[in-house]
Amino acid sequence: MRYQIAVIKGDGIGPEIVTEAMLVLEKVGAKFGHEFVFQEVLAGGCSIDVNGIPLTQETIDICKSADSVLLGAVGGPKWDSVESAKRPEKALLGLRESLGLFANIRPAMMYKALAGACPIKPEIIGDGFDIVVCRELTGDVYFGKHYRKESDCGWGEMGCDDMNYSVYEVERIARRAFEMARVRSKKVTSVDKSNVLETSRLWRETVTRVAQEYPDVELGHMYVDNAAMQLVRNPGQFDVIVTGNLFGDILSDEASMITGSIGMLPSASIGETGRGMYEPIHGSAPDIAGKGIANPIATILSCAMMLRYSFGLSDEADTIESAVEKALNDGHRTADIAYGGEKILSTSEMGEKIRENL
Ligand code: IPM
Ligand code: MG
Repeated sequence: MRYQIAVIKGDGIGPEIVTEAMLVLEKVGAKFGHEFVFQEVLAGGCSIDVNGIPLTQETIDICKSADSVLLGAVGGPKWDSVESAKRPEKALLGLRESLGLFANIRPAMMYKALAGACPIKPEIIGDGFDIVVCRELTGDVYFGKHYRKESDCGWGEMGCDDMNYSVYEVERIARRAFEMARVRSKKVTSVDKSNVLETSRLWRETVTRVAQEYPDVELGHMYVDNAAMQLVRNPGQFDVIVTGNLFGDILSDEASMITGSIGMLPSASIGETGRGMYEPIHGSAPDIAGKGIANPIATILSCAMMLRYSFGLSDEADTIESAVEKALNDGHRTADIAYGGEKILSTSEMGEKIRENL
């Protein structure tokens, strides 16, 4: 089969890590008889430099006509002074919205070989950590109206961001979470702030109703502040966490750090169609950009998620994941995951080690 992949290398370390991931896909394609055709497009800071805006219609159209999108990272201090409507991050939000990518799947799992990097005591972590944060991605305060107005009581100007959720939006993300839980440990924790927020009260009611369609899955509810605490107190109690856009943004960063290595974690953003956008959880790391030392593993694992979720190629995805695991078990480390005095590999050396295992 032939698959069209729109590639957004983006800013900072984006080009370095995406290059390694593309080489991995090419090798997997050759091994299994698939052709991956890449079309590179600009988004984020590099698009601001060339086009004056972070996301052009041309980029959106090419991503829409592709079978999937692979993204490195966008943003950096160079564009910090750009007005808010044109910041590089707007490219991400614009792509999520225009491609209808309402579900953001962020697995956080601990690799045995990297257990020493976990910041939580071994007695608490037990024999590992493997959860998925299923974050709603196209609603909430992220996509409400953002505006300023004069306060009524003479306190000066006010910044306002409308937070809203509709039943439909909550139902569709809840179903994704329950379906995911069915093929895992059959447990969903829905996280909200329904002791304060009306959006959260609607969220909780709706998730509870959708749960009736999945009697084989256990549903629990948690307030977001408690969830943040429980994640470090007893992370093993979670399997699938389903939550809104803002809470999911925060909790997925927290969950990723429990694995000890944000440089390891992939993510998938998916919608109603097979097309998804796949990217590492970490950002553009401008401080190390261009040095060839970034860890390409999160981007390589994002390709595995693409093969599994968008193309239904689970053997191919397994092959990539095993190749990564073997490289780690063999002691290969980039700087961010070398905590035991191991020899440090460059971005391309790590890519090469992984490709040797394919
Ligand atoms: C993420 C990022 C983005 C978000 C930013 C860069 C807009 O933090 O993908 O988690 O908040 O969604
Ligand atoms: Mg985030």
